Amino acid sequence: MDKIEITGGQKLSGQIEISGAKNAALPLMITSLLTPETLTLKNVPNLRDVNQLKIILGNHGTDLTVDGKRANGNKYIGDTVHLTARDIVDTTAPYEMVSTMRASFWVLGPLLARCHEAKVSLPGGCAIGTRPVDLHLQGLEDLGAQIDLEDGYVLAKAPGGLRGGRVRFSKVSVGATINVLMAATLAKGETIIENAAIEPEIGDVANCLVKMGAKIEGIGRKTLQIQGVDALEGAVHTVLPDRIETGTFLMAVAATGGEVELIGALPETLTAAIDVLTTAGVEITPTDRGLKVARRNTPLNPIHIETQPHPGFPTDLQAQLMALMTIADGRSVIRETIFENRFMHVQELARLGANISLNGDTAIIEGVSILNGAPVMATDLRASVSLVIAGLVADGKTQINRVYHLDRGFEKIEEKLSNCGAQIERVSD
Ligand code: UD1
Repeated sequence: MDKIEITGGQKLSGQIEISGAKNAALPLMITSLLTPETLTLKNVPNLRDVNQLKIILGNHGTDLTVDGKRANGNKYIGDTVHLTARDIVDTTAPYEMVSTMRASFWVLGPLLARCHEAKVSLPGGCAIGTRPVDLHLQGLEDLGAQIDLEDGYVLAKAPGGLRGGRVRFSKVSVGATINVLMAATLAKGETIIENAAIEPEIGDVANCLVKMGAKIEGIGRKTLQIQGVDALEGAVHTVLPDRIETGTFLMAVAATGGEVELIGALPETLTAAIDVLTTAGVEITPTDRGLKVARRNTPLNPIHIETQPHPGFPTDLQAQLMALMTIADGRSVIRETIFENRFMHVQELARLGANISLNGDTAIIEGVSILNGAPVMATDLRASVSLVIAGLVADGKTQINRVYHLDRGFEKIEEKLSNCGAQIERVSD
């Protein structure tokens, strides 16, 4: 199993190309199930989760091709993927395929909308809390689906097809919003989704659906209005840049010091994170190509934040911010309000010398002057990248085990960081 080894202490300087967003690419690929025509997605990141979803979609009958690229091309452009689900040959998403990735559960809405039935295994994904699917199921029931749970599977039927309805989510959920939005595009009549999530990735999916012929109003707002259509068609869409990858590199540079330009970064998708880092004393300036981040020899101010749905501070950057605050000048407080078990990085950061105590959903971080390299274990996707950030500043060598978590969501991370001067390499057993 691969490991990542980092010798800390190097400042980062140079440029990093931001990849397409994983959390947009996955649902965008799933929208291909809604049409027999070809959906072409550009700027798709090459990630383990993307590759796993290709297998899952292939099992439903999607033909998938990826455009070739000239070797040694020096500009990052992501992959161009063509997805054609001319016929859905199987409406079951089996446990073996979907258990490692929660987003694969989102095939439920499109399969139900197009084929009027689906059988989808209850999801897996990162071990960060119970992560139920009640909101997904409630939303689809509001569109007329009949739902049963049997042997770890959701059995859903909509004889005669889904019909529009009023969906009011009791809690903000990215996945449930996407699942119901996709389903509603082919439901008969009008659907209103209230208390919808407004993460930028949802806007990206909605914009793609509109290109495919869907009728959606309120994109980017908390109430979505969808008029169902009889069929959707093919489209060409470019995946938006990854704001979580962007935020991760902002924090990496903030931790090590130095100056890096993040090419393609979209500052408007991560204003909360930029505000927090600016308060901490990090210099972040927009450029005509993205964002520039710098920290010179100034100390890091501690921060107090809580994670919130967009546009608040994202839970997907909580672990990375905590890694950064381990070396701040004073006491920081981070409250996790989205996932109840998303603190597994704490004990690993402690192995590097961080001083963190937990009180329920709140972590109190007393900044230390130095971290020391040690072997650590990646426990989930975002936690594992927080260990990379800590390793980049720690004195000596840090070895990160179980990096397959990292490969689920960060494309070429060791290459991107080593191009900026980090001493980081992947070691295979
Ligand atoms: C998505 C993101 C993930 C991010 C999360 C929150 C993808 C592929 N994943 O995950 O990276 O951390 O949004 O921004 O885009 N909940 C329920 N019932 C449900 C669904 C969710 O109670 O039916 C709860 C969850 O347990 C959690 C909260 O709602 O406490 C938010 O979860 P949700 O927004 O659904 O996360 P995901 O869509 O799984």
